[in-house]
Order: sequence, then C-alpha cells, then structure tokens
Amino acid sequence: MRREVFAVLVLGVLGCEGRPAAVAPPPAPSGPPLFADAHLSAGRDVWMKVCRGCHELGVADAPKLGDRTAWASRIAQGRPVLYRHALEGFFGPRGTMMPPRGGNPDLRDDEVTAAVDYMVMASQ
Ligand code: HEC
Repeated sequence: MRREVFAVLVLGVLGCEGRPAAVAPPPAPSGPPLFADAHLSAGRDVWMKVCRGCHELGVADAPKLGDRTAWASRIAQGRPVLYRHALEGFFGPRGTMMPPRGGNPDLRDDEVTAAVDYMVMASQ
C-alpha cells in the first residue's frame, strides 16, 4: 500500500516536471497573422508597435487588420496611394484622420510601407 502511494507521488512529480514543455505555447500564437517573407515580417513588427493601436480594433474608424470589406476599396486605390496616405497622413471622406506615419515621425519610409504591405496582405 505504502509503495503504491510512493509510486503515485513519484509519477505525480514526474508528471508535473514534464508539464511545462507539454503545455508551452506554440511558436505562432493566435493574433495578427505571420508571414514567412522577411519584408512582411518586418512590416508586422512595425504594425505591432505603431499601427496596431488603431488598426486592431478600428479606433477612430481605422480599417481593421483582416477586415476584407473595409480594405477592398482602399486596396483598389493601388499601393502608391496607400503608401502616400500612410506616409503623409490623410483625412477620409467622413473626416476621420490617418496621422502621418501613424503618429510616429521616427519611422523610416521603408518601415511605414512595409507595415502597409503587411496590412494589405493580411486583409485581402
Ligand atoms: C491614431 C490612429 C491610427 C494609427 C496609429 C494608424 N492609423 Fe492608419 N488609419 C487611421 C484611420 C482613422 C484611417 C482611416 C481614415 C479614413 O479613411 O477615414 C487609417 C487608414 C489607413 C490606411 C488606408 C489609407 C487609404 O487610402 O484608405 C493605411 C494604408 C494606413 N492607415 C496605414 C497605417 C500604418 C502603416 C500605420 C502604422 C505605421 C497606421 N496606419 C497607424 C488611423 C490610424
């Protein structure tokens, strides 16, 4: 009887030790999609730091990441227009505003355009 209890305890401890590895989160948790492409991956990093603030939940009427309906007509304008609007900022027809560089003047042009490419890829 005692031996059985001991065995159960040992198994229990071993089981616990084995657990963290077994329940460790997968490398790609849910959330904004990941792309293998290095450019899109860099764009995602920028998006996570700067653009997400508005484009995740649609703050100030910003088109949400992954919302195909909201993005279709914007994507149809072509990338150069989207880049320009993201770099220089613009007011939409309903008076909502996309701030220049998402409000972060330290972002380089290629960082802003990579974030635009990322949003387009994740929203079409
Ligand atoms: C402070 C909120 C805010 C942040 C931060 C922000 N955006 Fe926006 N963005 C908006 C809003 C609001 C719109 C929609 C404007 C409209 O059409 O009325 C928009 C629209 C856009 C569009 C669509 C342009 C078009 O022509 O339809 C692009 C592209 C864009 N944002 C890129 C970015 C990128 C890239 C970042 C990060 C570097 C970013 N935004 C960060 C608020 C934000």
